[in-house]
Order: sequence, then C-alpha cells, then structure tokens
Amino acid sequence: MTSRATVGVLVPAAGLGVRLGPGAPKALRELAGEPLLVHAVRGLRAAPSVGPVVVAATDVALVEELLAPYDVVVVAGGAERQESVRLALAALDPAADLVLVHDAARCLTPVSVVEAVVACLRAGAESVVPVLPVADTVKQVDGDRVVATVDRAALRAVQTPQGFQRSVLERAHASGLPTLTDDAGLVEALGGTVTTVPGSEEAFKVTRPLDLLLAEAVLAARA
Ligand code: C5P
Repeated sequence: MTSRATVGVLVPAAGLGVRLGPGAPKALRELAGEPLLVHAVRGLRAAPSVGPVVVAATDVALVEELLAPYDVVVVAGGAERQESVRLALAALDPAADLVLVHDAARCLTPVSVVEAVVACLRAGAESVVPVLPVADTVKQVDGDRVVATVDRAALRAVQTPQGFQRSVLERAHASGLPTLTDDAGLVEALGGTVTTVPGSEEAFKVTRPLDLLLAEAVLAARA
C-alpha cells in the first residue's frame, strides 16, 4: 500500500529573509532572473514521485500568479516557519499519505535527494531527513567562552525535503510543542524515529548574500 502512496509537498516560503539583507521576502529574491521559490517548485515538479504541492507565502495572490504553470495550492503563511508548515498541511489534498516539507530557500535541491527521501518512506520509515557530514569543528559556547568541543563525527547537517508518513507529521504539528527549526525535531521530541539519507551539497539553503553567489555558480555549472 505504502509503495503506491501519493506524495504531497509543503513548501514554507513565508520567511522574511532578514539574514539576506534588505529587500523582498526571501522566497521572492531573484536568482538568475527568477524568484528562489520558482526554482524550488520547478525542481520539485521535476521529481517523478511528487504529487500535490502546497506553498505557504506572504503575498498569496502574487505567488499564485508566479506559480501558475506549476499546479500548486497557495495559502497564507504564519509568523513562524512551524506555523507556515501547519497551515500548508491543513490545505493538503487528503489523498497524500506521504508528506515532504521543503524549504523554498533550498531552491537547487537535486531531484535525486527528493527521490531518496521518498524511497526511504516507501520502505517503511516514519520520518526521513537528508543529511551531510559537518565540515567545521563545532564548539558549544556560553557567551564568548568555549564550553565544549562536540565530536564532529557524530554530527550531521540537516537539509530538506524532510519526509513523513502523514499521520506522524499531523500528530507532530497538533502536539503544541514549542517552535523548532525543523519538522523532524517535533517528531524526535515526541519520541518518534527519524531516519537519515544522504543529502547533497547542492541542497544548501540560501540564507546569506554569499549563498546567492554560490547558487548562481551552481546554475551556471548545470547549464
Ligand atoms: O528562516 P529559515 O531560513 O529557517 O526559513 C526556512 C524556510 O521557512 C524558508 O523557505 C522560509 O521562507 C520559510 N518560513 C516560512 N514562514 C515563516 C518563516 C520562515 O514559511 N514565518
């Protein structure tokens, strides 16, 4: 049954993108002449497994117009990412048994990562995150004082799309847990199991101005 389940995708795209500097909401900043969100949704549509897509945006009418060619539902996002995901989930086609949550800001995520997350869900995982090893040494600090050096070998940087059996994600978002920076974190907090699959360096999140330069270079290399 799970192998034929419909895969829905929620795209939180209602963030302001303060770290990117002044300007439009982050999802609407341009990369090679098109908003990051358009790149992200085009990438999702290129993935054979992806079915219904719901985008949570700040300007619903504008985003509906931008995404008209891509068959998506657009809803108003919330004040926090978690709220934007919850609102998008409420609008997702009930036929979708598997749900991916994908940041608009990870606009160049390769199709292979999307498909790897779906394959892991179809194999029975309840929650899945794509991850990469951590390149930097990571230290825990208290103000400007180092408290500890964390064992890098045991750390992973987490990307999106994160994948869930729909019932697991619904439970997580109905739990009333305080705001976290990702959806798998909610599942972990409720004692659920989260499985990792390999991510991709090209699935980086456009957060700071340098990331836009990197994204331009990745697009140029692909062309
Ligand atoms: O702020 P951060 O980079 O973690 O945001 C990750 C994703 O969540 C972005 O795609 C952003 O647009 C989205 N977001 C949202 N609603 C918010 C805040 C962030 O949809 N209130």
